[in-house]
Amino acid sequence: MAKMWAGVTSGVTDSIADDFNSSIRFDCKMYKHDIMGSMAHAGMLASRGIITKAEADTLCDGLASILEDIDAGRLEFDMSAEDIHMFIEQELTDRVGDVGKKLHTARSRNDQVALDIRMYLRDEIDEITSLLRELTSAVCEKAEEYRDAIVPGYTHLQRAQPITFGHHLMAYAMMLLRDISRFAGCRARMNYSPIGCCALAGTTYDTDRHYEAERLGFDGICMNSIDGVSDRDFCVELAAAIATAMMHLSRFSEELILWSSWEFRFVKLSDSFTTGSSIMPQKKNPDMAELVRGKTGRVYGDLMALLTALKGLPLAYNKDMQEDKEAIFDSVETIKMCLKVFVPMIRTMTASREEMLSAAQRGFINATDLADYLVKKGLPFRSAYKISGQIVAYCIEHGTVLEELPMDVYKSYSELFDGDVYGEIDLLTCVEKRISEGGTSVASVERQIAYVREALEA
Ligand code: ARG
Repeated sequence: MAKMWAGVTSGVTDSIADDFNSSIRFDCKMYKHDIMGSMAHAGMLASRGIITKAEADTLCDGLASILEDIDAGRLEFDMSAEDIHMFIEQELTDRVGDVGKKLHTARSRNDQVALDIRMYLRDEIDEITSLLRELTSAVCEKAEEYRDAIVPGYTHLQRAQPITFGHHLMAYAMMLLRDISRFAGCRARMNYSPIGCCALAGTTYDTDRHYEAERLGFDGICMNSIDGVSDRDFCVELAAAIATAMMHLSRFSEELILWSSWEFRFVKLSDSFTTGSSIMPQKKNPDMAELVRGKTGRVYGDLMALLTALKGLPLAYNKDMQEDKEAIFDSVETIKMCLKVFVPMIRTMTASREEMLSAAQRGFINATDLADYLVKKGLPFRSAYKISGQIVAYCIEHGTVLEELPMDVYKSYSELFDGDVYGEIDLLTCVEKRISEGGTSVASVERQIAYVREALEA
């Protein structure tokens, strides 16, 4: 069958070319948004007297019936259609007759597709944001539960200083909070309507772009018609926001994987979010966390695909831009799946205070506090640092820890040592004394939790 756009060409294309060209198998996702956009367009055309009110009603009724039928599964997408826009327009004309052919007045598929993607992604951002909020509040709950549980804090994956597990978890809450705001910023910049830009140059019809923008919930219109149909920076920005959030989830996953290993034994993931091995009976594998870490690679790939597809494109529309959808849809679907599994995985996770404390008791993570003790007694920090290092070396050599070192040994390193040193290097003291804002003390962690919760409510 000849194409709707048959004219200067015969409109008869090779079937291999048709398959290659067609995007309906992935852009059919946007059917609802395409139909909503078309309804607003019909309304606008009537409001400007470009078509009659009766014609607009016929178009809208036809579109509504198509929407209903697709939703109910009564109408299937025709995979031989060129794309979702052509499919719906053809279906409309089949249903309402020649008036259906008036819908595409003062519009092009170029502004139509730009409109649909923005509307579609806007909804997806809202879903992702609500999942991120759920995750952030689940993290806060865990942090509250373990706000006083002592665990080693690491740098270079070497035990560094004692912290509370709640403090560590809240670091992720802060990252997630920024992720949420990145999505909000991206949504705000995306929320300008390209409809009415037409193919690229605007139109000779006396249209009302603001009418459509308002009806469709946009904050305004794209002010340059070439920009409106040419750029997909909002896809890139969204893909980057997704990649960043996934990077956070991936680091979190990596820690869950480490922490649930026998080497750490800090956390237990619930049986519902781990798998067994088909051969090794003792195994409990953190597959969900590993998959989140693994899927982070694909969303980075999506971001690169988008950037690369756009980098050499002359203005305005080029068919290359059809490639935007699979990449951004994949990113969106991937992060939603990851978040849906991450929320309950965190909620059902438990941590072992005993294991975390026992790890904290080895590794001399109170050595900084030992140095600080000497500083408070008047020694310059560098000298105190050196003496503390020597004492740690002594402990390692003699298989003991700072807490158990006899006073005479302390004294042999510095006369400034006294009985109060034991209290100062007690892990609980070390944690509780880190009262600086944002630090690891229980009170500080509680303030952080309150801060995040307030931000989530706002
Ligand atoms: N399916 C196309 C896309 O996704 C729609 C726009 C087609 N426009 C055109 N002039 N061929 O980009």
